[in-house]
Amino acid sequence: MLSARAASENVMDKIRVGYIGLGGRGYGVLHGVLNMKDVEVVAVCDLKQDRMEKGKKLCEDKRSEVKVTGTLNYHEILERDDVDCVLIPTSWNAHYKIAIDAMEAGKPAAFEVGPISSVQEAWDLVRTHERTGVHCMALENCCYGRYELAMINMIHKGVFGELVYVAGGYQHDLRGLADNYAGGMERSYHNVGRNGDLYPTHELGPMITYLGINRGNRMLSLTATSTKARGLYDYIDKHGGKEHPLYGKQINEGDITTTVIKCANGENMVMTHDVTLPRGYSRGGRVQGTNGIWMEDGNRLFLDGMNESHESVSMHEYIEYYDHPLWSMFKKKEITDAHGGMDTLVLRAFFESVKNNIAPPIDVYDSVCMSVVACLSEQSIAMGSMPVPVPDFTDGKWVQREPQPKTPYALDAVHDELFDPETFYYFDCLK
Ligand SMILES: NC(=O)c1ccc[n+]([C@@H]2O[C@H](COP(=O)([O-])OP(=O)(O)OC[C@H]3O[C@@H](n4cnc5c(N)ncnc54)[C@H](O)[C@@H]3O)[C@@H](O)[C@H]2O)c1
Repeated sequence: MLSARAASENVMDKIRVGYIGLGGRGYGVLHGVLNMKDVEVVAVCDLKQDRMEKGKKLCEDKRSEVKVTGTLNYHEILERDDVDCVLIPTSWNAHYKIAIDAMEAGKPAAFEVGPISSVQEAWDLVRTHERTGVHCMALENCCYGRYELAMINMIHKGVFGELVYVAGGYQHDLRGLADNYAGGMERSYHNVGRNGDLYPTHELGPMITYLGINRGNRMLSLTATSTKARGLYDYIDKHGGKEHPLYGKQINEGDITTTVIKCANGENMVMTHDVTLPRGYSRGGRVQGTNGIWMEDGNRLFLDGMNESHESVSMHEYIEYYDHPLWSMFKKKEITDAHGGMDTLVLRAFFESVKNNIAPPIDVYDSVCMSVVACLSEQSIAMGSMPVPVPDFTDGKWVQREPQPKTPYALDAVHDELFDPETFYYFDCLK
């Protein structure tokens, strides 16, 4: 039986999901997906039998009314008629190929974040989408973080004036990944063998929305510079020395990589990848325009004329006022998930796009743009920080592209009129 909304708006009432990848992230996110009343996980997959079975059991325990099958071969999921879309929280080298195969099979695909390994891989995603008409989306949850959403709201309300500079980082002490090297964790191999901004999307996803990249703006070129690599050597010395699985290995990834991206409309985006030195977590956000600045570190705000003393003020005092209406509605559900709510919001953004058969707010162009910087920064570093061009994946369409579909999840505009508490139904499906 269709819900009133489904019947009146011609949307899918329920969506049936194939779930591919049940490592730490996949298994964690599965809990949240199973709490969504309009979503049924009908098939799960992992290359590892024990992980696949653990995921299947979680589905059966939480949603005994839904029949779920398990497989080690994701192609079996893509062949099924009763799968409407797929989620792909696999490891870095796997998810793009699976997303391409999913689009070929007519299944909208959402994949977890991670670096794109080659520019060709990015083009393959774009061209497959364009040829098949099937969408894919990077699940960049930080686009839906409370502060990132507040920035979008403030930018569209003109609070910062004309933007000039944005910055962000993936700044997360991950030295412990070194201990997983012998266990074959793919991510630790990347962080040893490569040298670049290997995890660019958590900051770049929000930054491209701030600057309207792919819709009236584009990234033109970048330069990247890495420091020496010392953090992991120091960690290995202190955690096992000669007994450590990484002892004696050459480490290529510099401790801190700084990438500067030049945009067509004249702004600079500056990114910092910083995962092998001791530090507290920060995405280091900064948004700066002709009327003021917000800085995540210290959570400081300064707007022109705010005071005479040139002292920034605490953003804590302003956040409720500037909260994005999506966040204001969402916080009433009191869902915190693994990342304070943004995991749920990014999944809902994807599921709503599938239900309505519309482009997701992070479309294929945005998805590849934010991910390809990993291999472009590697190229720049390999050439002594030479500038490298960023491909225009829109083939010039960025100059005048249509706006994103008008939904509460849109990232290119804030549709205040969609957030009337009397009529807002988008979270009814959340337990
Ligand atoms: N958005 C976030 O906040 C966030 C947080 C953590 C991790 N991640 C991302 O999530 C992804 C997964 O991370 P993880 O820590 O769970 O990694 P993981 O290596 O623990 O798990 C990946 C799983 O994918 C499976 N897999 C790989 N190739 C497959 C294939 N072809 N078919 C089926 N299964 C396959 C592996 O067997 C493994 O179980 C990564 O891209 C990571 O960067 C995102």
